[in-house]
Amino acid sequence: MLRKGGGNWVEGDRFFNRKVELNALKERVADGTHTLLTAQRRMGKTSLVRELLRQLAETGEFETVFVDLEAANNPADMVAEIAAQAWKPQGVLQTVQTVFANIIEAAGERVEEMSIANLKVTFRAGINDGNWKQKGDEVFEILTAGDCQAVLAIDELPVLVNRMLKDGDEHVTPEGKRMVDELLSWLRKTGQLNKGRISMILSGSVGLEPILEQAGLSAHANIFSGYDLNPWSEKTSVSCLEELARSYGIDLSVEVRREMCRRLRCCIPHHVQMFFDKLHHHLENSCRTNASLKDVDAAYRYGMLSVRGQSDLKHYENRLEIVLGRAGNVIALDILTTTATCGILDEDTVGLYLAHFLDQDEDNGTSVPSVVNVLHVLEHDGYLERFGGGYRFVSGLLEDWWKNRYGRNFEPVFERQRRDRRPI
Ligand SMILES: Nc1ncnc2c1ncn2[C@@H]1O[C@H](COP(=O)(O)OP(=O)(O)OP(=O)(O)O)[C@@H](O)[C@H]1O
Ligand SMILES: [Mg+2]
Repeated sequence: MLRKGGGNWVEGDRFFNRKVELNALKERVADGTHTLLTAQRRMGKTSLVRELLRQLAETGEFETVFVDLEAANNPADMVAEIAAQAWKPQGVLQTVQTVFANIIEAAGERVEEMSIANLKVTFRAGINDGNWKQKGDEVFEILTAGDCQAVLAIDELPVLVNRMLKDGDEHVTPEGKRMVDELLSWLRKTGQLNKGRISMILSGSVGLEPILEQAGLSAHANIFSGYDLNPWSEKTSVSCLEELARSYGIDLSVEVRREMCRRLRCCIPHHVQMFFDKLHHHLENSCRTNASLKDVDAAYRYGMLSVRGQSDLKHYENRLEIVLGRAGNVIALDILTTTATCGILDEDTVGLYLAHFLDQDEDNGTSVPSVVNVLHVLEHDGYLERFGGGYRFVSGLLEDWWKNRYGRNFEPVFERQRRDRRPI
């Protein structure tokens, strides 16, 4: 019985489909390929990797480790996180214990009784700027020493890289660049050295490539072979909605399910789940179990596009600011709102943006980020897609949400400027 996904990653009986993707990733793991998993926000990257590791661990043929670097600030944090997550009651335990023997001893606790959070803090105390590579090498040695092939999944590496690269004003600093260069060189060297014994999978809620491009460090991603995670097809989404409906005792006709997909335009699993949840609540509130097309409309308008529905989508803006910085985000916001209100961002309008921000660059003496750069990120991270000669939103939901939130009385920045310059 498929259960609702909520907002966090899902696995096991909450995980639906993705058989093709799971098989493709299993093949890559078997080949020892290092993978960079890319997709737009909320596509189910973390869930896919978690489910993959769960299935691989179940076979007993793989040593699996999953780390989330959302809260990490530096390479030492990363190594401590990997070491703590590699800790297992059997197998790797003893060896991880050996690497950190004196640290554990100093903590005066029995390692068997420590939580992962505690282990992380304890390990971290023994890792610093000077020894993180050596400790990291030792942890990799342990991971690859057993009979089983190891799979190391690192989620949110781009968030850590971004944090290291930029200062408080979101400028790439020479020191940040040096540190990221060192971290990624080490990861690359380690990956190459252990090829065949360990397979790494990188993922993140923001893309790694645009961040590395900003810093001129793109070559570091070379050992990772990209794998694009796509939205669900209409067929898959319709089946998922059918299973969810069965689990929660409601009746959604094929027509109703198709209409839900049509509204979304792009069936991002999180949005499919969200839509089901809103429709389910809507039916519960009216004490019914049967949905009509009118119910779909109501759940979309008053649920998905409500202030609470939108708060889920607030995530998108935060992540965009991470990649583009505040200045770039201002440009992105304007472009996205124009696209949402017009339905399409045509070539002429792109030209107006280019001209406007070129003027501004000259006025301020700044050059980054350019409109071209912003459009590249918006396309890479799946907000916009090429359409005709211009761009449009990939997701119907995101488009409607953007229009609702920013579209009222909106005037593109070049129009505002033109008005301000007009003689009174
Ligand atoms: N295979 C799946 N089956 C069922 N629901 C899914 C699946 N994949 C994703 N979801 C839904 O999407 C939500 C987000 O999933 P997940 O956190 O894995 O996405 P993500 O791509 O890692 O997101 P982010 O961009 O924020 O990192 C889940 O809570 C769930 O509702
Ligand atoms: Mg994720």
